Amino acid sequence: MAAIEGFLVASLLLSCLASTSYGVTFTSLQKTLVVSASNQQGKVLKGGEGNITITWSYNNSFPAGTDSAYKTVKVKLCYAPISQVDRAWRKTVDNLEKDKTCQHNIVSRPYSPSNNNFNWSVERDVPTATYFIRAYAYNSADEEVAFGQNTDAHKTTNLFQVEAISGRHASLDIASICFSAFAIVSLFGFFFLEKRKGKSSQQK
Ligand SMILES: *[C@@H]1O[C@H](CO)[C@@H](O)[C@H](O)[C@H]1NC(C)=O
Ligand SMILES: *[C@@H]1O[C@H](CO)[C@@H](O)[C@H](O)[C@H]1NC(C)=O
Ligand SMILES: *[C@@H]1O[C@H](CO)[C@@H](O)[C@H](O)[C@H]1NC(C)=O
Repeated sequence: MAAIEGFLVASLLLSCLASTSYGVTFTSLQKTLVVSASNQQGKVLKGGEGNITITWSYNNSFPAGTDSAYKTVKVKLCYAPISQVDRAWRKTVDNLEKDKTCQHNIVSRPYSPSNNNFNWSVERDVPTATYFIRAYAYNSADEEVAFGQNTDAHKTTNLFQVEAISGRHASLDIASICFSAFAIVSLFGFFFLEKRKGKSSQQK
């Protein structure tokens, strides 16, 4: 009996250990990438029309070779603290497997220490919120090994807002359908009016 209990406790402990030790933590990553975005502080980008240019490179202040294990870079759109308040589904968690800060992938590229830029058009499905840009470097096992971001450690500088316009588009679409229907109806109306006019002038 004691043996079975001992076994159960041991396997429980093991599985706890396994689940806590697995997953890279954000705080363990070095900030070796320099990331910038062309947005102006506080500027509003519209979903489906706005665009920004994002550049990233290796920070050469770090010793050469620090980046030898970097294989890919993924650039992501991340919620600023102000857009995380009261929203557990956007919460920042140190374990990157559970972190919800950066949910939107912008681009994924093979790692290169310099000359990286990407012109990103803000997609329509991006929710209205305040954001910053973060890039993660991954090793060949697809684990995060470094990062960079266009904001400071407290995520307060160089933020930008995205304003989703799907609502406006829906009402625009409805308006244009109504307008087309009205146009067709008035065209027919005109046609019949002209015909009647033609008939009445023939009868005279
Ligand atoms: C990017 O946005 C600017 C205005 O901010 C606009 O003039 C330009 O056409 C856009 N470019 C693309 C490729 O959408
Ligand atoms: C590069 O890294 C150094 C050391 O961490 C840091 O002081 C410097 O600000 C970084 N450069 C840029 C452009 O972020
Ligand atoms: C992004 O746009 C800038 C200027 O609008 C241009 O110089 C750059 O080559 C473009 N980059 C890409 C990857 O298209």
